[in-house]
Amino acid sequence: MRPVPIVIALVIVAAVALLLYYQVQPVKVETGEGPEEGHGLPAGEHGPPEGRHGHMERMMNMCGENPPGHLINELFENHDKFEASYQVFPEERKLVWRIKVNQNPELLKLLKDHIEQMKCILESGGNPRAHDPAFQAEAKLSKYIHTKVYFQGDVLVVEKWADNDCAFDVIKGHAQIVKGFFEKGREEAMKTHEFGSPNCAEYGFP
Ligand code: HEM
Repeated sequence: MRPVPIVIALVIVAAVALLLYYQVQPVKVETGEGPEEGHGLPAGEHGPPEGRHGHMERMMNMCGENPPGHLINELFENHDKFEASYQVFPEERKLVWRIKVNQNPELLKLLKDHIEQMKCILESGGNPRAHDPAFQAEAKLSKYIHTKVYFQGDVLVVEKWADNDCAFDVIKGHAQIVKGFFEKGREEAMKTHEFGSPNCAEYGFP
């Protein structure tokens, strides 16, 4: 074999290896640097830190058209425009949100995109807020948590149900945080959310 074909063959092998590497890597999402940056999310127009750019791009390709930080910033800006409440159905280990907006129906679509994106990130093995214990628990238990998001007329319905008691506690804990997001917006994201429950001892969250 002459040197030129060998070089071409090597380049092809390297390209295929790179492609495979990026296909099989689990998606880990941590899109910011802590409280000053809005707790794990890009603040305003700021992009993600350089070192995590690759993760961010991979996750964006797999989970929706918009970067998660973009959707979340829009939600922070408009947090008080939503009318949101939830009901808990302990027998079914289920929690159901019903959410409306008075003006600007586009916001509900944006919220739906956010939830579907977060669901996708969790299902891909990612964690959108890895420094926060409540989100650590959500990431760890995500395979026992199911989420369905759909419109019922002009109401956005989010159904979440759990396969076990710990996952149900995680769902209820997360709903409290989301309640805080609706009420306080970015201010809620400045908090660290502790999580623990006797049902979750075996998963490392006693
Ligand atoms: C730090 C910012 C945020 C992060 C990291 C985040 C992350 C998440 C995650 C991981 C889920 C769970 C998806 C699933 O269970 O499949 C979720 C759901 C949801 N998020 Fe966000 N979110 C953020 C901000 C917001 C804001 C600002 C709002 C609204 C103003 C919001 C509203 C919701 C709603 C309504 C749900 C579905 C209900 C629920 O899971 O309890 N989120 N979010």
